[in-house]
Amino acid sequence: MKKLFIALGLALCATAVFAQPKLQKNNIDEVLKAMTLEEKATLLVGSGWGSMVAGAMTASNETLVSGAAGTTRAIPRLGIPQTVLADGPAGIRINPTRPGTDQTFYATGFPVGTVLASTWNTPLVEELTTAMGEEVKEYGADVLLAPGLDLHRNPLCGRNFEYFSEDPLLTGKMAAAYVRGIQSNGVGVSSKHYAANDQETNRMENDSRINPRALREMTLKGFEIMVKESDPWTIMSSYNKLNGTYTQQSYDLLTTILRDEWGFGGIVMTDWGNKAGTAKAVIAGNDLMEPGMDNEIKRIVDGVRNGTIPEADVDRNVRRMLEFIVRTPRFAGYKYSNKPDLAGHAKLVREATPEGLVLLENEGVLPLKGVKKVALYGVGSYDFIAGGTGSGNVNKAYVRNVAEGLRVNGLEVNADIEKWYGQHIALKKTEAANNASGSTGVLLGDAVIPEMEVSRSFIDKMEKVTDIAVLTISRNAGEGGDRKAEDGDWTLTGSERKMLQDLCDSYHVDGKKVIVVLNIGGVIETASWKHIPDAVLLAWTPGQEGGYAIADVLCGAAYPSGKLPMTFPVRYFDIPSSFNFPYNYSGTNSMNPLGGNGELDEDTAALAAAFGFSIQKQPNVDYTEYKEGIWVGYRYFGTAGKEVSYPFGYGLGYTTFAYSAPAVKVTKDGTVTASVTVKNTGAAAGKEAVQLYIAAPAGGLVKPVKELRAFAKTRELAPGESQTLTMTVDPYTLASFNEATSAWEMAAGEYKAMFGASSEDIRQAVTFKEAKPQSWPVHPVLLPEKPIEEIKVK
Ligand code: BGC
Repeated sequence: MKKLFIALGLALCATAVFAQPKLQKNNIDEVLKAMTLEEKATLLVGSGWGSMVAGAMTASNETLVSGAAGTTRAIPRLGIPQTVLADGPAGIRINPTRPGTDQTFYATGFPVGTVLASTWNTPLVEELTTAMGEEVKEYGADVLLAPGLDLHRNPLCGRNFEYFSEDPLLTGKMAAAYVRGIQSNGVGVSSKHYAANDQETNRMENDSRINPRALREMTLKGFEIMVKESDPWTIMSSYNKLNGTYTQQSYDLLTTILRDEWGFGGIVMTDWGNKAGTAKAVIAGNDLMEPGMDNEIKRIVDGVRNGTIPEADVDRNVRRMLEFIVRTPRFAGYKYSNKPDLAGHAKLVREATPEGLVLLENEGVLPLKGVKKVALYGVGSYDFIAGGTGSGNVNKAYVRNVAEGLRVNGLEVNADIEKWYGQHIALKKTEAANNASGSTGVLLGDAVIPEMEVSRSFIDKMEKVTDIAVLTISRNAGEGGDRKAEDGDWTLTGSERKMLQDLCDSYHVDGKKVIVVLNIGGVIETASWKHIPDAVLLAWTPGQEGGYAIADVLCGAAYPSGKLPMTFPVRYFDIPSSFNFPYNYSGTNSMNPLGGNGELDEDTAALAAAFGFSIQKQPNVDYTEYKEGIWVGYRYFGTAGKEVSYPFGYGLGYTTFAYSAPAVKVTKDGTVTASVTVKNTGAAAGKEAVQLYIAAPAGGLVKPVKELRAFAKTRELAPGESQTLTMTVDPYTLASFNEATSAWEMAAGEYKAMFGASSEDIRQAVTFKEAKPQSWPVHPVLLPEKPIEEIKVK
């Protein structure tokens, strides 16, 4: 009898083993049912921290893809593989070399997000990210942690270079194009950082406090457009709090708005950390904790056992994880080559980059003619900055500098000047390597090499033997810190100013020209010096082919057609958010100076009280009030009539365009179709980005004098050639958010459609009528504890 029981038991066990389902696309329910609680929790937590490799946080994924930022955990019993998550957004970030092989794994350094936005060309962005996605797939990753689409709320945010624009529509359209391109390869994205991660200072704890209108119209709008127009596989919740709650623990943000209102169907993962409130994150709909630690698994298991996490919430998140996993190349067993088309992508990047370069000034000097010998100044001319620092930095095989670019375009770079810079750069790099203070921290990477002092007599001597001077001015920034409103960052240093003035004084005497190239990650002050040189080319940090692309533009082998995705103000303090940003924060890192998790624990608070200390939370560090409301960038400057250095949407080219035949049709449901004909009236070929701004009828909600509602770019037009551009705007896009009714509202009445070459250069305008008002009520959620006192603009 006993033997019979044992045999029966063994048989049952065997059946159970054999009955174990293996994950397939069509058996997710069955697999979910077969999972133990521990297994479910395991799937919701990534496989852990590794070492800080090459300047960013990377998990220990040496066995899968070396240097990738994270992985999910495998459950072999159920046929669930690990998946690999690697950083972006300027290309896939992985380790370029691996032990035991001579093969290299460099990735293409694509133009950063700001450059992509400066192209105003969504098909081009999609083409570039289609190429980028091929590298993601061929290097064995499943998800690229990109794009970054927080708003350029303030120009000093250290990660603005990764982000697109001060305008949410441009942001959302660019992000959607980016996502479509990557995902066309059958790999996913993780669009980040959702939401209001608009500063790096104390980014883990800072509380972004925002009124509902600014939140809906500005902070969230880009994400909304991106979700609706591109179906991202995943979204990354940010580190910060939003109106008092960590975004990763906000049900309103991750479920009510993201899924219920916008229809997001993918997974949400945390940004790389380990916050204590794992239970809250699970309930909120944050499916995956990254990079993941065992204590998070325990918290989930304990939470279900002690009733603080409903098991149904765990199941819901696990189901979404399984749905994600079955989409991945790793699940399909894709045999990646580790040999993406790097040569093809380099060519594509070189050709595309000029579309993101913005010509700010050109007093008849560009493209260069009759010039052979170049005096090339500025550290960045030789040590070019391709992209920002931190997790957004791509390990690329090379970076083309301006000197190389000029040479391949047939110009001669003065050898004496090049030699001096070579020595200066080598010396500063050695000093930095020998001296810890030469680095601004692990995440920030190396500081920009300080400019070399160049004497006027040297400049004069070189002037005699060269035809033209080019000066590159460099700035860099990155994850973990914000920029400062001070010399050497926002403004030029004394020695940069002196060099610029000396060069111009010296060269102008002999009728020779001086060109400034700006190799910068974000906006700097330009109003005080922009008229001194003869041309200013804003190159941003445009990726590995930057030096080639710049020289192609300077020499006329390519033409610039970029336009600014943000305003360049005259002064930093002209910006409405200037005082509501840590513009002068002198803390040494991004952690809360109060320590801990940003809250004073009860003991410390009691101790402080006993000693009579009152420890206040520090504005702009522990919390940031978005007092500018919706008045970000051109919305403010245009409406307040405040002078700017360069307006949003501005950029010169090598030709001119005339706009004619503006027309607007409105369908019965209120959809607007606007068209305008653009003619190349100059002597060179060119492309023109046309911006459709719309002014709403007076009365009702206070609105900016104009808001970008659509844009389009022509194909390359030969001199004399025309193209009619047609843009569509649905009524919802015309709507503003009414806090009193918690609804998007589009007023009836007379609107004005303005076709602009920039926000301040409106070339044609027509009015149209919306017959009846429309409204879209949404959940009255995510309110600040008390309303933020906003500035009044009109
Ligand atoms: C950054 C993310 C990045 C992640 C993984 C975080 O510190 O904020 O943008 O994707 O690290 O490297």
